[in-house]
Amino acid sequence: MRRKLLAAAICATLSALGLVALSTTATADPLRSHAGSRFIGYALNLTAQGSDASYRTVGAREFNIVTAENAMKFDATEPNQNQFTFGQADQVVAAAQANNQQIHGHTLVWHSQTPGWIQGLGATQMRAAMQNHINTVVGRYANSVRSWDVVNEAFNEDGSFRQSFWFNTLGQSYIADAFRFARAADPDAELCINDFNTDGMGAKSNGLFNLVQSLVQQGVPINCVGFQGHLAIQFSFPNQVQQNFQRFANLGLNVKITELDVRMQNPRDATKDNTQATYYRNMVNACLAVTRCNQITIWGFTDRYSWVPETFPSECCALLYDQNYSPKPAYTAVHDALGGNEPVPPDPTPPTTPGTPAASNVTSNSANLTWAASTDTGGSGLAGYNIYRRQGTTDTLLSQSTTNSTTLTGLTPSTQYVVVVRARDGAGNLSPTSATATFTTLAGPVTGTCQVAYTATNWGGGGGFTGGVTITNTGTAAINGWTLAFSFPAGQRVSQGWSATWNQPQGSANVTATPLSWNTTIPPSSSVQIGFNGSFTGSSNPEPTAFTINNTACTVV
Ligand code: G3I
Repeated sequence: MRRKLLAAAICATLSALGLVALSTTATADPLRSHAGSRFIGYALNLTAQGSDASYRTVGAREFNIVTAENAMKFDATEPNQNQFTFGQADQVVAAAQANNQQIHGHTLVWHSQTPGWIQGLGATQMRAAMQNHINTVVGRYANSVRSWDVVNEAFNEDGSFRQSFWFNTLGQSYIADAFRFARAADPDAELCINDFNTDGMGAKSNGLFNLVQSLVQQGVPINCVGFQGHLAIQFSFPNQVQQNFQRFANLGLNVKITELDVRMQNPRDATKDNTQATYYRNMVNACLAVTRCNQITIWGFTDRYSWVPETFPSECCALLYDQNYSPKPAYTAVHDALGGNEPVPPDPTPPTTPGTPAASNVTSNSANLTWAASTDTGGSGLAGYNIYRRQGTTDTLLSQSTTNSTTLTGLTPSTQYVVVVRARDGAGNLSPTSATATFTTLAGPVTGTCQVAYTATNWGGGGGFTGGVTITNTGTAAINGWTLAFSFPAGQRVSQGWSATWNQPQGSANVTATPLSWNTTIPPSSSVQIGFNGSFTGSSNPEPTAFTINNTACTVV
């Protein structure tokens, strides 16, 4: 209490001098410190980020996840076919990582802000161009973007499919294809479908629900549903938002509020501010009431930069801070709904330095790292670790882990890696950097030199089966380290495997298997045999038709 009074007195003095616009309450007790296991985010406007120091300060302080407002869209990343421009997207990634923030990717397949060259293609070429775009963009950010809006705004208001160029050329299957392509490019990212005016129960959210339910039933790798939440106080608050979120969560998916803002008609006044605050509070509370709702992102944070006046010229003021960075009642509503009315004590103490990492199981494209754990005494608790690659004086984030070990994937064959680790706590403090570990990845296999034989033996009943895979090196050089990848065609699941480390993310059809220490190397003309127990639904258990080793297609026999 004494701290707050002192802060208020200082603020009043500085305000009188015209020197301060930022709330000290917000400074000491930002939104991100109340996010718990959820993410609280904002859409990052790159122009503001480059030119406005107050914007940078508030964005870094308040939020723990960032969405690029425009920089990762199709027109920004592939303006001409197969000419990728990542300058802006890279800036967003760098800014987020510098502030210990996660990244939500927006967006891969949308009818808007998508260049003309793809809109005029025939079906075969359009589908291939979509795959190439997703593969390139998602692949580039596989170690930095934690979740993606894979398909954006696919529905009409009546719940039917929007007649976009995607739909008109490719049919409804473009949606499932987009998710499969995204999963192939990043086995770990959360993959979302995202839309607006779907926050409450209604015809549009029913259409979305029916699609998502059928995608889940078909084993399409979808993990989350994004509800944009572009609201306006002159319209009533959406119906049954919590119940709507919950029905999607009950499908086993995460739920996110991805683009929340609440606009009003000009001019802004205190009554409208209070109504706006109520809308914000209601949306946050709906998310908090649903265990699987794991992200609330505001579409900006200051009225100085917002899409609203350009699109709705008689409307304004949709965000948490006014144009001068004073927090509005909407800020307090979000803050208090998140639990911020019980401020957590500040934690200026970083965790201790992690132990020197040790590399093991190094293959041509992956390596395991372990290190002695850090401790955190500052009160906010140890949140996890950042693993960086060191090149000269630059440390680039490779991956993050909540435990004191990780498996690095997507590495380049025959390449030396120098890696260091830093621990993070719940307040975002980073520990000093560990000592370095150095390892060199093994040589990769020669292209097109593998053969796979797959067998599936169904059990007597109950949908169980035993799968076997024989991988043969048909080339002349040894395969030193391998990742087998394939996709189940009909919702099958691996439950337990042997002779390899098996992985099948929840909700995904994609399976990978990596070697154990004794079968990492496959000499020429030799085979390894690995297997698993799995389950299937219905009466058929069709075999996967394509297999890759280290992303290279194998002959299937
Ligand atoms: O990049 C050009 C620039 O070269 C040109 O000089 C300038 C002239 O107007 O336009 C710039 O493009 C603008 C772009 O934002 C980048 O600033 C477009 O005109 C403008 O229309 C575009 O608006 C974006 C809008 O999506 C486009 O649909 C908004 O910033 C962005 O907030 C908004 O975000 C969408 C989500 O992606 C999806 N859900 C709805 C949400 C709000 O509309």
